[in-house]
Amino acid sequence: MTIKMNHSKKQAVTEFMLSRRSVLIKNMVEPGPNADELETILTIATRVPDHRKLEPWRLFVIQGDERREFGERLAAVKAQKEDITNIQINIEKDCFMRAPLVIAVIASPVEHKTPEVEQILSAGAVCQNINIAATSLGYASQWVTGWSCLDPAAQQAIGLDHKEFIAGYLYIGSSDEQPQDRQRPELKDVVTYWKAE
Ligand SMILES: Cc1cc2nc3c(=O)[nH]c(=O)nc-3n(C[C@H](O)[C@H](O)[C@H](O)COP(=O)(O)O)c2cc1C
Repeated sequence: MTIKMNHSKKQAVTEFMLSRRSVLIKNMVEPGPNADELETILTIATRVPDHRKLEPWRLFVIQGDERREFGERLAAVKAQKEDITNIQINIEKDCFMRAPLVIAVIASPVEHKTPEVEQILSAGAVCQNINIAATSLGYASQWVTGWSCLDPAAQQAIGLDHKEFIAGYLYIGSSDEQPQDRQRPELKDVVTYWKAE
């Protein structure tokens, strides 16, 4: 594969990256990606910088009826931890039904000379690659977290090892919404052209 892009391709990618936006889950509807598109998203997801090729992440694809099963497991954990109403339990159960497809990105850091924080950053890159891949295919996508991401009982309920946690849930669906742009930082506020004093 050549890594040189022709001018119009380069421009298209740049324009896409300059205008890409997440879409709120509440604005997502069916359909989600088909099997081929999902494979493309997963392939791009796992094509991330990864210091010393540790692959310190894995992915759960949650779709169809499994979305409710997943939500029910987490709702049961929440009900055990807290005094919550039936309404709140039902919200937890239905949480993953809000979009046709959810990909949970699991950070799986290992003991290694590559620092743990680098491994976790690589899992973050997986999340954002999913956002970019799904949007580039015309789908709405949003990276969200929540109480279950760092909760040991929730992690156990969904089959994670003790060092693992959820770096993000990527909700993906269709949407007619053209989200307005979000205010972005002024470069001068966040960028320093570093010079020795
Ligand atoms: C680690 C992480 C967790 C996030 N969790 C949530 C969340 O739980 N709920 C939410 O509304 N947005 C959450 N966001 C923010 C959205 O994913 C997103 O950044 C925001 O909607 C604007 O995104 P855009 O710049 O892609 O348009 C999270 C972002 C990150 C990086």
